[in-house]
Amino acid sequence: MKHALLLVLALPACGVPDDPLAGLEVRQEDPSDLPLADLDAHWRDRFARGDAVFERTHRAADGLGPLYIRAACASCHADDARGPGAVTKLAGAPLPWGPTVRAQLAAGATVPVGVPDDPAVVTSVRLGPAVFGRGYLEAIDDAEIERVEAEQARAGVVSGRVHRVCRVGAENPDQPFHDHRPGDCDLIGRFGFKARLATLDDFSADAFVGDMGLTSPLRPDELPNPEDLADDERPGLDLTLDAVNLAADYVRLLAIPARPEARVEGRPVGDGPALFAQAGCATCHVPRLRTRADYPIPALAGVDAEVYTDVLLHDLGDALADGVQEGLATGREWRTAPLIGLRHLRAYLHDGRARTLEDAVLAHDSPGSEAATSVAAWRAFTAPERARLRAWLETL
Ligand code: HEC
Ligand code: HEC
Repeated sequence: MKHALLLVLALPACGVPDDPLAGLEVRQEDPSDLPLADLDAHWRDRFARGDAVFERTHRAADGLGPLYIRAACASCHADDARGPGAVTKLAGAPLPWGPTVRAQLAAGATVPVGVPDDPAVVTSVRLGPAVFGRGYLEAIDDAEIERVEAEQARAGVVSGRVHRVCRVGAENPDQPFHDHRPGDCDLIGRFGFKARLATLDDFSADAFVGDMGLTSPLRPDELPNPEDLADDERPGLDLTLDAVNLAADYVRLLAIPARPEARVEGRPVGDGPALFAQAGCATCHVPRLRTRADYPIPALAGVDAEVYTDVLLHDLGDALADGVQEGLATGREWRTAPLIGLRHLRAYLHDGRARTLEDAVLAHDSPGSEAATSVAAWRAFTAPERARLRAWLETL
């Protein structure tokens, strides 16, 4: 939803130490909060109710805390795009309270989890990524992702790999999307910057407990904290399974924003996709992948989803490496960012360090990067070619 963004930017929550987007202008005002076309009444209703859960600012009486980062999904995914809220991950030392800075206090807590005063500690700032089109990402057939992994291994230019993950949450009989059992460990990680979780319901439950301290049947325990607080102002579980699933359904049902025709100085340009492929961008940012024919939402089933990712982990070099291991993903690896809704973003890459598309591309090149040849090809383009490719990227 649009209404809150200017306010959020003007008034960054006090005490939030890391707000890299504070003060930036809103770049485009076109609506992005749209559901998939052709949904039946059931899914339209889930989208609308899920939108309300996603926007809701939780309070202490709802079970917020004892520690938290922000109080609403939308405060880190404003307009479903990137930021303004950020998360700081920690690594490099024993971390008894977990790998995430949680600076806000509720429900009587007095000691936040900050950055430990230890020179060995590594910090990694991450801006909430855009969440458009994530239903497509969940629906992509496993076989498609494995096919691309094998093709990359054969061609030898880049070497993406599937992040195999375990199902974390309890069984979720209310959702028809996955029949995984807790403990299943052959799932393809799809969500998060390092593809650490396999399903949107799991991600939603994880965000509720990790970012807000809201427990649910999928994540029944408060995270460890310095005062050993096991609960908050709302005794027991804070959320129903349905609330978790509604937030996931909202994200799942968000459309890929409409992609207008690319133009340079008012004139249409047609060769953006060809230049993108020629530079090897499409090897990782695979333009389309087939979704499962049996995915339970017809609009997402058996379609060529234009996701511009391979859902694989890649080493993008020293400069982007953050030193944080997540599951089997190393401190150098990142899932190829889906290029969805780029024109709604105001900053690019996991920490928002790039403010232009050109900077985002150039940041792919540092020692050890699998994308080095691709950036070299970008550099070798003529200035008009680069302008046409940029203009096309802007439409994604
Ligand atoms: C404090 C900021 C913050 C809040 C609050 C927050 N998120 Fe996020 N979200 C992030 C960050 C940062 C990531 C990237 C996580 C990572 O991999 O490190 C993320 C990732 C995601 C993703 C994965 C997107 C992708 O491309 O893989 C989804 C889905 C998501 N969040 C949904 C939610 C939902 C639903 C809520 C509310 C229940 C929520 N988020 C609350 C910051 C936040
Ligand atoms: C080896 C695989 C690989 C290749 C080749 C590659 N990328 Fe990427 N790209 C990634 C990964 C991984 C990320 C996420 C990095 C991060 O967040 O730090 C990314 C991020 C991006 C982003 C930022 C998206 C966002 O949501 O912030 C853009 C834009 C982008 N790539 C464009 C390109 C273009 C254009 C090319 C070709 C010149 C290219 N990429 C080549 C893997 C690749």
